[in-house]
Amino acid sequence: MDWEQSYLEKNVPWDLGEPAPPLISLLEHYDRSLLASSTVLVPGCGYGHDAEAWRRFGLEVTGLDLSPTALKSARNLYGKSIRWMEGDFLDTSLAPKHSIDMIFEHTCFCAIDPEQRKNYVRSARHWLVPGGKFLGLFFTDPPPREDGGAGPPFGTDLQELRGLFEEVFTITRERSPDRSHPDRLGREVIIEMVRNP
Ligand SMILES: C[S@@+](CC[C@H](N)C(=O)[O-])C[C@H]1O[C@@H](n2cnc3c(N)ncnc32)[C@H](O)[C@@H]1O
Repeated sequence: MDWEQSYLEKNVPWDLGEPAPPLISLLEHYDRSLLASSTVLVPGCGYGHDAEAWRRFGLEVTGLDLSPTALKSARNLYGKSIRWMEGDFLDTSLAPKHSIDMIFEHTCFCAIDPEQRKNYVRSARHWLVPGGKFLGLFFTDPPPREDGGAGPPFGTDLQELRGLFEEVFTITRERSPDRSHPDRLGREVIIEMVRNP
């Protein structure tokens, strides 16, 4: 999948034009445990709506994406108070080791090749401080692509997620979101985890 080309063509069907509804709900209910973190990384941030939601909540935010065009739009939309970083989340040489308190995952995990999922978990561990939080909004059952292609988005399920993450994280909570975009209703799960020492 050529993400940069899609952004150049403005062919971005995944873009909701606002933060993910489950994230809006989470922040509206002002989950105070989230304030234990001061820095948050949003991998695959696209146009940066989720990153901006976290900034407004009071955290120091890094939005990471492969696509310079997406990041340019994000910067135009939301300015420079967010650190916009171009790069591959799977490339651990890119990131300062153990520098982030929380990762917010939303539609990056489902965007990468399923064969790379172990590397995704390795990168998440690399970015986070020990005890750092991983807040994942995972697409368990994405609607089929209009062109009939296999993905992205690539679905997953709880069993796979537990198997992948529990090697280096402790899962503290799993739940269904109380709010979702209509196309994603019943197709998402929120998992909270903590990086093991
Ligand atoms: C399905 S889009 C979702 C974008 C954004 N999270 C949203 O919800 O609008 C996936 C995003 O992840 C980015 N991406 C894909 N693979 C990536 C990787 N390995 N590292 C960083 N970004 C990646 C793409 O450029 C794209 O912006």
